[in-house]
Amino acid sequence: MPRLIRACLIAAALAGLAQPASAQRASLPRIESAGGHHSLIVDGEPFLMLGAQVNNSSNYPAMLPEVWPVIDELHANTVEVPVGWQQIEPQEGKFDFSFLDALLPQARAHHVRLVLLWFGTWKNTAPAYTPDWVKLDQKRFPHMINAKGEVHYALSPHYRSTLEADKRAFVKLMEYLKKNDPQNTVIMIQPENETGSYGSVRDFSPVAQKLFDGPVPQPLLKQLHKSPGTWHDVFGKDAGEFFHAWSIASYVNEIAAAGKAVKPLPMYMNAALASAFGRQDAATYSSGGPVHFVIDVYKAAAPAIDLVAPDIYTRDHAAYLAYLGFYDRPDNALFVPETGNDRDFARFFFPTVGRGSIGFSPFGMDNTGYFNYPLGGKELGPETLNLFARNYRLFSPMEREWAQWVLAGRTWGAAEPTDPKAEHSQVLDLGKYKLTATFGQWQFGTDKPTGNPVPTGGVAVAQIGEDEYIVTGFDTRVAFSLARPAPFESMMMLRVEEGHFDDGKWVFRRVWNGDSVDYGLNFTDREQVLRVKLASHRGTPAIPVGNPN
Ligand code: DGJ
Repeated sequence: MPRLIRACLIAAALAGLAQPASAQRASLPRIESAGGHHSLIVDGEPFLMLGAQVNNSSNYPAMLPEVWPVIDELHANTVEVPVGWQQIEPQEGKFDFSFLDALLPQARAHHVRLVLLWFGTWKNTAPAYTPDWVKLDQKRFPHMINAKGEVHYALSPHYRSTLEADKRAFVKLMEYLKKNDPQNTVIMIQPENETGSYGSVRDFSPVAQKLFDGPVPQPLLKQLHKSPGTWHDVFGKDAGEFFHAWSIASYVNEIAAAGKAVKPLPMYMNAALASAFGRQDAATYSSGGPVHFVIDVYKAAAPAIDLVAPDIYTRDHAAYLAYLGFYDRPDNALFVPETGNDRDFARFFFPTVGRGSIGFSPFGMDNTGYFNYPLGGKELGPETLNLFARNYRLFSPMEREWAQWVLAGRTWGAAEPTDPKAEHSQVLDLGKYKLTATFGQWQFGTDKPTGNPVPTGGVAVAQIGEDEYIVTGFDTRVAFSLARPAPFESMMMLRVEEGHFDDGKWVFRRVWNGDSVDYGLNFTDREQVLRVKLASHRGTPAIPVGNPN
């Protein structure tokens, strides 16, 4: 990055230190992007979603008492909650918003914002949340047909009757929000949930086949710099998946655009992921959903969708980081709307926010007794919950500042690796300096790192000045060094302050010195934020005392 731009970005980040975080402006939430970095703007300022998603069947007033204790304990600032089509339109044309009548005031009372998940035509690719009058009328709402000519479980994206019915209900939802939520408690909407289809790469019905045999639409050719042709000509063996992605993305785009015409909240679609490494048969994953191979298709077909987002349930460290990389793009804000709620997932908060995500949200965060093991945990007891809660307690006082540093592109993060080749360490290249994080080491750091008993280590760093960093984490040992030292260049830790942010201001607690810095910086299970001032020095060593030469 050129020096001047970097200096401006750092100045902007530093300005964030002085600005009161509580300044409220009644403006609609939106995604803001600058220099390939992104932020969700809420109440006129960058906002980091410290999120939690409730279980699928927690969307009834009677279940909310089982939700709030977990959300409060977690220190979440945002809750993701489903709204089912069948729930709001059980009879065609008759709408029931009694759940939202209960949810919105309770969310405000608990000081959290909401993300609403529209379970419509697709919920985990299936029509389970459509009303009975949709499910039972396959003539009006046709299903896909597979390659063998059999009826598939998923609704087809090629019928206007289905699209119009879903759109009408979604628009009613947005009208409800426009009327009943002037304070924007709801900050973002997810139209549909994990779109696509398992077991059939696309719809093979005659209607779909005719489109498949036709030309690839111009916006997609432009997005991918391809020459005109049929789907097969342009995409070869991937044609079926790309065609299906285009069909679904166009369908959801129309629904999202109609909703935005009523109330233009940011909208995103979530992905049930394909393998991070290699290429599987598309029929074995959610073909047509916003998996990483087809993000460009969603960009071309769905301008009303602000971003596509990965639901990350892998426990594999390398795969987790790969997914973060796929969805973090100059044209796509990174967001993890779902992740596992087991102990080993909590640490992934650090590389996620370090990479500049607008938010992080473990799934199944309530007391309703449902556990989606092996995706998430087998329980959500106090120790497990605390591993997620301590992240949010650490970041809550500085979430607005963090989101500003993200927008300036000056944040990094790492999680404890489990791959033996990584030798329980991670290195972050911060430009002039590098940070080496090690896991499972005594505080003097003279022993070999062995990893923590459960992988819980994580560290996040933000640059707030030329040689100044905010560093925080858990169960991690941190050492700074020069990333590219010149001859005779050395560095020192000039000052390490422990403190916290309060309404945009740094509040000093103590200076770390002596053993606390001589042998590296040790983050334990304590909630500690450090402001680290480094200095580099260049020159030949001074002449030692007692040496006449
Ligand atoms: C991803 C879906 O989006 C969630 O609604 C839920 O079904 C989880 N998978 C599994 O628990």
